[in-house]
Amino acid sequence: MSVAQAAEAEPSAAALFNEHCAVCHGEGRLGGTGPALIPETLGRMYGPKLEKVIAEGRPATQMAGFSDQLTAEQIAAISRYVETPLAEVPRWSVEMANESLELNPDYKPAKAPVFTADPMNITLVVETGDHHVSVLDGDTFEVLDRFATPFAVHGGPKFSPDGHYVFIMSRDGWVQKYDIWSLQVVGQVRAGLNSRNIAMSHDGRWLAVANYLPRTLTILSTEDLSVVTVRDVVARDGTPSRVSAVYQAPQRESFVLALKDAPEIWEIATSPNAGPFHDGFVHSHEQSMEEQLGAEEGLFARRRILIDEPLDDFFFSPDYRNLIGANRDGDKGVVVNLDVGRAISELPLPGMPHLGSGISWERNGSRVMATPHLKEGVLSVIDMKDWSLVRQIKTMGPGFFLRSHENSPYVWADVFFGPNKDKMHVIDKQSLEIVKTLDPAPGKTVAHVEFTKDGSYALVSIWEDDGAVIVYDAKTLEEVKRLPMRKPSGKYNVWNKITFDDGTSH
Ligand code: HEC
Repeated sequence: MSVAQAAEAEPSAAALFNEHCAVCHGEGRLGGTGPALIPETLGRMYGPKLEKVIAEGRPATQMAGFSDQLTAEQIAAISRYVETPLAEVPRWSVEMANESLELNPDYKPAKAPVFTADPMNITLVVETGDHHVSVLDGDTFEVLDRFATPFAVHGGPKFSPDGHYVFIMSRDGWVQKYDIWSLQVVGQVRAGLNSRNIAMSHDGRWLAVANYLPRTLTILSTEDLSVVTVRDVVARDGTPSRVSAVYQAPQRESFVLALKDAPEIWEIATSPNAGPFHDGFVHSHEQSMEEQLGAEEGLFARRRILIDEPLDDFFFSPDYRNLIGANRDGDKGVVVNLDVGRAISELPLPGMPHLGSGISWERNGSRVMATPHLKEGVLSVIDMKDWSLVRQIKTMGPGFFLRSHENSPYVWADVFFGPNKDKMHVIDKQSLEIVKTLDPAPGKTVAHVEFTKDGSYALVSIWEDDGAVIVYDAKTLEEVKRLPMRKPSGKYNVWNKITFDDGTSH
């Protein structure tokens, strides 16, 4: 096709989209009853894969196939159209976000849990196969409720500090609030158009949403899901930046943001007494100078930490004074001291460390942390006092998640990528040796572990559409139960998450 022909074909693809798809996927491709259709969300689903979904649809959903209405050429043209980036970054203001609020008209708050199970030992299972969450009793493993989530949950759900509510975010930026005590959905609001994850403030009042589209951070009130502010994320030199992730730093009373497109880390205060924070170097502390220096203070005041190159995927020390971030080339870790606000150390971590699922524990009287690598079959164990590499544990392939519990002598490490994706290593926290390799579903992806409140059981996902959650006795490593689930991904125990248990990533 010549350039001129392509230019002519484009409007017809747009017209076809508007005629057949816009009713569900939105005029501007930003979603409606169906998900957004933009390169940011389609990700690896392009070309033939995309055409197949359009032609054949998705069984048991509103997405019917179009092979009887559209020719193969038309389907290919629409497919190329939805793969094209939007001409402009769309706006998503406080007002627009607040207009999207949908409350469940049947929701009734409960004064106490409507079930007899221990509310602190509830575990949520995200089932990505059909976009649901199962609410498990962590003692009996009975499913207390199963509710529909927005399309494509992304990042970990976040609990209120008392464990009463949970907030769940989708790739298209919807944030859903669920009342665990009454087992009911409260409502949902669209905080961004394409979003990465959420974080809860130390006092449970605010929820921060990291967005790719637009380049913003949204802050919601957890009480009524109202959007209180949408903050443009712009680097000191004026470059707008996506937010790779937002983290909760309760001891610091702040949110910490990883900027994707700028060599900066942002800290946003969640306390009214914060600041003033000066942008860059301060030559004068005179009160009258503060405005000119761009000082911010109070609730949601921003502090910029300048670094040499963009970092993402953070691991925090338990006191939240230091973080380790991975550089873009995926070959080193950079330690940033958040108190002094600069990088203090570097260590070689080749093979794309996945620091976001790093965990730490006490070993021989000192604290170590471990991280899997996305491109190499090793786990790196690091001494957190001097940031030296203690050991690299060889695994059967690159892993994604790592989990332990303060009452467990073991670390559980999946082998997410490659031919051994069905294996799960169990590693001794002291000797750093693999003590057992589980193989519960040969040929299937076996991944992600969560413990029950007291650490006596470990829950493992068979990450397939006709998958399951396997319950293991965490001491004997024997299988106790298998609960059928639709492509279960992450599992989240109320107690382990709200107490920031050693062994869980945050
Ligand atoms: C009646 C509503 C409706 C119409 C019309 C519709 N879709 Fe969909 N579409 C959906 C829903 C709902 C889903 C989510 C299905 C699921 O749960 O997997 C979806 C999913 C998709 C997906 C997969 C997205 C993903 O991230 O997994 C693609 C691609 C898609 N639709 C393309 C199209 C195109 C192109 C058209 C027009 C030719 C179209 N759809 C028309 C409702 C619709």
